[in-house]
Amino acid sequence: MRLTTIAASVALAAGLSSAVSSAVAADVEVLHWWTSGGEAAALDVLKQDLETQGVGWQDMPVAGGGGEAAMTTLRARVTAGNAPTAVQMLGFDITDWANEGVLANLNSVAEDENWDAVVPTALQAFSKHDGNWIAAPVNVHSTNWVWISKSALDEAGGKAPESWEELVAVLDAMKENGITPLAHGGQPWQDATIFDAVVLSMGNDFYKQSMIDLDMDALSGETMVEVFERMETLRSYVDDNFSGRDWNLASAMVIEGKAGMQMMGDWAKGEFLKAGQTPGEDFLCIRFPGTQGSVTFNSDQFAMFGQEGDADAQQKMAAAILSPEFQSAFNVVKGSVPARTDVSDGDFDDCGKKGMKDLAEANEAGSLFGSMAHGHAAPAAVKNAVYDVVTQHFNGGLSNEEAAEELANAVDAVL
Ligand code: BGC
Repeated sequence: MRLTTIAASVALAAGLSSAVSSAVAADVEVLHWWTSGGEAAALDVLKQDLETQGVGWQDMPVAGGGGEAAMTTLRARVTAGNAPTAVQMLGFDITDWANEGVLANLNSVAEDENWDAVVPTALQAFSKHDGNWIAAPVNVHSTNWVWISKSALDEAGGKAPESWEELVAVLDAMKENGITPLAHGGQPWQDATIFDAVVLSMGNDFYKQSMIDLDMDALSGETMVEVFERMETLRSYVDDNFSGRDWNLASAMVIEGKAGMQMMGDWAKGEFLKAGQTPGEDFLCIRFPGTQGSVTFNSDQFAMFGQEGDADAQQKMAAAILSPEFQSAFNVVKGSVPARTDVSDGDFDDCGKKGMKDLAEANEAGSLFGSMAHGHAAPAAVKNAVYDVVTQHFNGGLSNEEAAEELANAVDAVL
């Protein structure tokens, strides 16, 4: 009798503990840097999608656009033997972690869902390693956008700028009208995001030579000096309080009509939408003048750290991320475009439709390049070297000539 009771309670305990561990196994702990209003709204779409499939969510947000702080936290967690189950990651960071052999293999879900056929090859370059799928791309962002307040533009003459000269003329007119022409946050990754677009405005070949091939002559030459001249010109349209400002607060300045425009990736659109604004009516999205037809892209992907007990939830999360319905619902809110080539643009607004069209056309034309600022042009060591020089110059610490020379030296030193 006693024995039976013990046996029953052991069985009960075992049952309970397996129930508990299967609840735990159905959870994902997600490390990400989506903390702004627009980003959180997009994150909710993912959270809810997973909930409907019985996958619970443990949030591990690390604020800081561009993800540098998140990557520092990730390194610390992995070193402590406590890696999160799923991690938002960009481009070369994925490759670096894959090289360490710590990322879970997603081949079986990729095969079941036929990812090889639908994920653009430019993304597969980062989602696959040695032929194996090791990350699930959730979107494609691009960095060479300008977000303009419609009312500020109307007051400044009404015509969206198409060339560098037209851009400077509009910025001057906005200054005359008494607003901050360029909303910007002085953080290295934001300075570098503008730099991406300015380098691209010097031509596709120049972007490729300097940012992708890391050609020393391109990095230090006359065209790069001109890039820094343009950066210096743009700096003159920023307000005095720009230092350290978060990117979404810069977006808010445009949303509120306190500033004319922001040069930022299309995650900025998420902020405009969250504030109830409509493209074409309240704000405009244009490609950075002189970069029409070209795209510098980055793609948020989720990589899974291989640990026992999490595999089921991880595979479910990966499958959910790549489903066509989710890709549409999520990217409509996030400001990005789908990481699959077969998703309809039907639910997207005009900026989203343009983003999808631009991406497909740039891909066809060979004018689609990885963003340096967002980890898709070169590994983190090079990216950080570029950040340092661009930010030092933006803050007046280097002349245009010195900056070009220093850029080549800094990149050379980490190669
Ligand atoms: C990410 C975006 C994010 C942005 C600002 C970029 O690196 O790709 O998803 O919204 O940083 O935080």
